[in-house]
Amino acid sequence: MNRKRKNHLNFFLTTKEMLKKNKYIVTYIEELKDEVICFLDSNKKIKVFSSFCPHFGGEIYYDKKNDQLSCKWHGWKFCKNTGKCLSYPLKSGLSSYDFEVRPDYLKKYDFKSEDNSIFLVYEPE
Ligand code: FES
Repeated sequence: MNRKRKNHLNFFLTTKEMLKKNKYIVTYIEELKDEVICFLDSNKKIKVFSSFCPHFGGEIYYDKKNDQLSCKWHGWKFCKNTGKCLSYPLKSGLSSYDFEVRPDYLKKYDFKSEDNSIFLVYEPE
């Protein structure tokens, strides 16, 4: 979070009080065409990820019991810190003829906390 940012955009997500109270915020950001989840993990750390599964677009949620991200559609698991797919750690395809598995990372967003507010920080390419 300390690297210099030139053309970044900030999108308000929630307040710290609301996050502490609700533990979980889901919001759609039109400019990113993305639905974003913001939550406190088991260590009370703020996390911000896309809610769209890289497998097939299913809904991602934070599985508090197992302290990881999970997809509601086919159950793929993702690391709550990096977004790395935990269900298919190998990047090789199962069969290039029938189908292939691409365990892409879940899209993770940077964020900043100013005063009482939490903002998603986005750097357009
Ligand atoms: S759409 Fe998420 S695991 Fe298939």
